[in-house]
Amino acid sequence: MEKKNIDWSNLGFGYIETDKRYVANYKDGKWDDGELISDANIVLNECAGVLQYAQTVFEGLKAYTTEDGRIVTFRPDLNAQRMEDSAKRLEMPVFPKERFVDAVTKTVKANAAWVPPYGSGATLYIRPYMFGSDSVIGVSPANEYQFRVFTTPVGPYFKGGAKPITIKISDFDRAAPHGTGHIKAGLNYAMSLHAIVRAHEEGYAENMYLDAATRTKVEETGGANFIFITKDKKVVTPKSSSILPSITRRSLLYVAKEYLGLETEEREVYLDEVKDFAECGLCGTAAVVSPVGKIVDHGKEICFASGMEEMGPVTKQLYDTLTGIQMGRIEAPEGWIHVI
Ligand code: PLP
Ligand code: COI
Repeated sequence: MEKKNIDWSNLGFGYIETDKRYVANYKDGKWDDGELISDANIVLNECAGVLQYAQTVFEGLKAYTTEDGRIVTFRPDLNAQRMEDSAKRLEMPVFPKERFVDAVTKTVKANAAWVPPYGSGATLYIRPYMFGSDSVIGVSPANEYQFRVFTTPVGPYFKGGAKPITIKISDFDRAAPHGTGHIKAGLNYAMSLHAIVRAHEEGYAENMYLDAATRTKVEETGGANFIFITKDKKVVTPKSSSILPSITRRSLLYVAKEYLGLETEEREVYLDEVKDFAECGLCGTAAVVSPVGKIVDHGKEICFASGMEEMGPVTKQLYDTLTGIQMGRIEAPEGWIHVI
């Protein structure tokens, strides 16, 4: 199979239309067989549930080319489970987990020419999603749904790749205490757009959101969870019922313990104590592990000892081990790597 002629190493995090996408339709209480199609556009009724009341959930994972030339995805079963949780919270039908993994596999296979080569620094981002597709005018769930998967080749989420970023504490909240922060619903991202545009205008790469109830505890950013490293090399990550349970974060905690012999702690993290950490990073499928060099709290700077030039040493170890597992350089725990 011949790869597309793309300057893989200079890709940013943007949308490029690839050849095939998967679509399945839910009608009269059941999913149809689903198929791969070529048309990237969707025709919907003007009153579709997704357009009026934002009834949509999504996932994000990546396909990698390993050192020995296989195409693999990373823990897609966990994305399938999280999409089930998201769908239930928005009163949507569940797309069966085995079918989710099968749809991802078929879509990646059909777009194999778009999977960036090993060592290029790029990956194929996979976006499964589901939305209410029939008309809804009173506030209620739709009766018909589409489940889709498309792919797009991507480079680093933050400009500059592995360079530490500067973020700000947001004055806006991302999620309410008993709301939808823990699921991957489009509405959470719509909520964050005003805050991210403001942050970018002010020269920051991202926002740190605090807990909405007390505004004293660290939650997450618009698209990634936090990890902190203590001065004695413990990996600390915020516990909250209103952040997205990141698959990258769960994997990093395992890697820290089982591969690097580091202590880990998932607990409430107060903004007051952030200044005492040695390193800070963002973790997620898109972000991978992105170092944070500085956090600005209304003009007051919190600077990490790792500085603004490179990743902190423990963050780097975590990054190297995780990406080593994903790219097949390091042996993966049982069940983490799904060969396409
Ligand atoms: N938090 C938010 C708000 C996200 O959108 C994402 C991205 O999926 C993450 C965290 C990281 O989750 P994961 O590691 O499963 O990609
Ligand atoms: C992901 O990491 O997959 C996400 O969905 C985050 C998004 C901000 C691109």
